[in-house]
Amino acid sequence: MAKDFVDEVSDFLNFGFKKSVLRGIKELGFIQPSPIQKEAIPAILDGLDVIAQAQTGTGKTAAFGLPLINSLKHNGSIEALIITPTRELAMQVSDEIFQLGKYNKVRTVCFVGGQSVFKQLELLDKKPQIVIATPGRLLDYLRNHKLKSFSPRVVVLDESDEMLDMGFLDDIEEIFQYLYKDHQTLLFSATMPIPIKHLAQKILNNPKFIKITPENTTNEDISQRYYIINDAEREEAIVRLIDSEMPSKAIIFTRMKKEADILAKRLIERGYKACAMHGDMEQRERHRSIKAFKDSKSNILVATDIAARGLDISGVSHVFNFHIPLNPESYVHRIGRTGRAGKKGVAITLATPLEFKELRRIKENTKATIELYEIPNIQDTISKKDTQWIEKILKYPISDEALRLYEQVRSSADMTQLVCKLLSMLLEEVKVLGPNKIGLRKKDLQKFQRELRQEEKATYKKQKPDHPKKNDYSKKQNQKERKVGQAKKTHKVSNSTKTKRNSKRK
Ligand SMILES: Nc1ncnc2c1ncn2[C@@H]1O[C@H](COP(=O)(O)OP(=O)(O)O)[C@@H](O)[C@H]1O
Ligand SMILES: [Mg+2]
Repeated sequence: MAKDFVDEVSDFLNFGFKKSVLRGIKELGFIQPSPIQKEAIPAILDGLDVIAQAQTGTGKTAAFGLPLINSLKHNGSIEALIITPTRELAMQVSDEIFQLGKYNKVRTVCFVGGQSVFKQLELLDKKPQIVIATPGRLLDYLRNHKLKSFSPRVVVLDESDEMLDMGFLDDIEEIFQYLYKDHQTLLFSATMPIPIKHLAQKILNNPKFIKITPENTTNEDISQRYYIINDAEREEAIVRLIDSEMPSKAIIFTRMKKEADILAKRLIERGYKACAMHGDMEQRERHRSIKAFKDSKSNILVATDIAARGLDISGVSHVFNFHIPLNPESYVHRIGRTGRAGKKGVAITLATPLEFKELRRIKENTKATIELYEIPNIQDTISKKDTQWIEKILKYPISDEALRLYEQVRSSADMTQLVCKLLSMLLEEVKVLGPNKIGLRKKDLQKFQRELRQEEKATYKKQKPDHPKKNDYSKKQNQKERKVGQAKKTHKVSNSTKTKRNSKRK
């Protein structure tokens, strides 16, 4: 029967979902469940507490959303509570659940900051089955007893690692004190830092742990490149790369919130359609940035890891790492923003010679093929842009307005002149500026790599222990010396430790 709704070979049929749920799945265009959905859905349907870890963009929302919708009793009470770290994520989750549950009479309500308390609470009269809330606002309602007979059967913590990063863990623990104990608890997260594991131990009951590790971090659809630059060249490098790549949609990841702000501002000043997104921005501003980026009003989003986590943005053609990411995991998450749904993507990492070792660690850890590229000079960039412009112009659809104007102008202008004038107009704002040479050439880097290897060999030889333990000891002593030296700034202490070490050697 359900065959009417999803493909008859779809694994979605194996979950035993109601017809109405399958219809929602079909309408959203899902054909097969994603790996996290395959594993988590049966466990959730069995009523187990679940900890589920999978990368951003792997369909975690539907992994908890579908079983939730399927098991709604429609008894007039709030049956499920989903806690998300930000208002945008709450809206996104609410949207997806609403769409999946379209044929299931699902009603959701969002309790988030920045909206009228009165209006929000009024929505409870409509008898929603699912509440999606951010911790602050929810706690406010719970503390002030605004929610009458609030006992959801299922509680979901979504994007838990972001909750940790935003400092919400204490709030979460407090929220759980207000809830009845016998609910099913589901914890979803992209990464699983220790504090989240501890939280899980406190609030989950004998949970099933599901972890989907990205089997292929070297997604073939993503071309991964790195460019070696000097620290002061980052902005010029980004600008040149944007000029030569002409990304349709790019996310630039920065390490710090301030950096995101400054870079976005600088890009705007230089005529690019950029916007920033980070945790220090007002919700409203963040919302505006995301909306502009999603609607392609701006095509460059400068964001910190945390701010961008969990947000579902499709069609990202380029991911830039302004600095090398702090760890391999973050690298994988960031680049996973592009090359989605069979589309090609480009992931670009800027690194200084000093950061080169970090990059190597990422390469080794992720087994990714990240290739060294050179930042194109002005002439090469212009040539590349020319080709892209020609391609773009030839493909561009002709509008009615253009035809109308053409009719008016055709008798009064020479066609060659007209085309040239139009091209001049078009290209006015796309001059390639900045220094001609940015970053290191390949041969410079190879020289640098050789030096690095030699240096490493030399240190290795020096360190090669006759007695490994002794070497360990001397290393520790060295560290100790440094610490003591820093603290007391006396030579005596380090001398005495040296003597000790020497006497041990003997
Ligand atoms: N089985 C599926 N098939 C196709 N697309 C899916 C499937 N499950 C989810 N999606 C889509 O993938 C995108 C990312 O899902 P989301 O739940 O936001 O990921 P996550 O929470 O893991 O970061 C959404 O647009 C969602 O609609
Ligand atoms: Mg999510």
